[in-house]
Amino acid sequence: MAFMQWNSELELQIVEIDRQHQRLVELINQFDDAVQAQQGVEMLDKVLNELLDYTKTHFKFEEALLAKHGYPTYPEHKAEHDALAEKVVFMQDMFKEGNPPDSNMLLNFLKIWLKEHILDVDKQYAPYLQEQGVV
Ligand SMILES: [Fe+2]
Ligand SMILES: [Fe+2]
Repeated sequence: MAFMQWNSELELQIVEIDRQHQRLVELINQFDDAVQAQQGVEMLDKVLNELLDYTKTHFKFEEALLAKHGYPTYPEHKAEHDALAEKVVFMQDMFKEGNPPDSNMLLNFLKIWLKEHILDVDKQYAPYLQEQGVV
């Protein structure tokens, strides 16, 4: 069974956003696969990089969408993204310095963060965009 399951509860009913969130889940699962296969630090760093790159892409996309449509709590939403990005960069540095964080701890952190962010924060903008006739 995959480490993180996608389920309909996580859907915002916005096709492009749901697609991107599913891709993030996929990348977390790829990282888990690499950890469980006991890949070396280099490989873990490579997979984590891909996850971080895609996370940044997704955040940029979401922020541009919210900013364009004057989402009232855009600054708070962006601040949540920035805080996560900062944490992941910090963990990446630990990999680079040869002092990687515990991979299972990192995986659990990412899984919980993504799930809670989608359910508690992202889900709030879906009705707003629907009201604006954007989606
Ligand atoms: Fe978000
Ligand atoms: Fe999101």
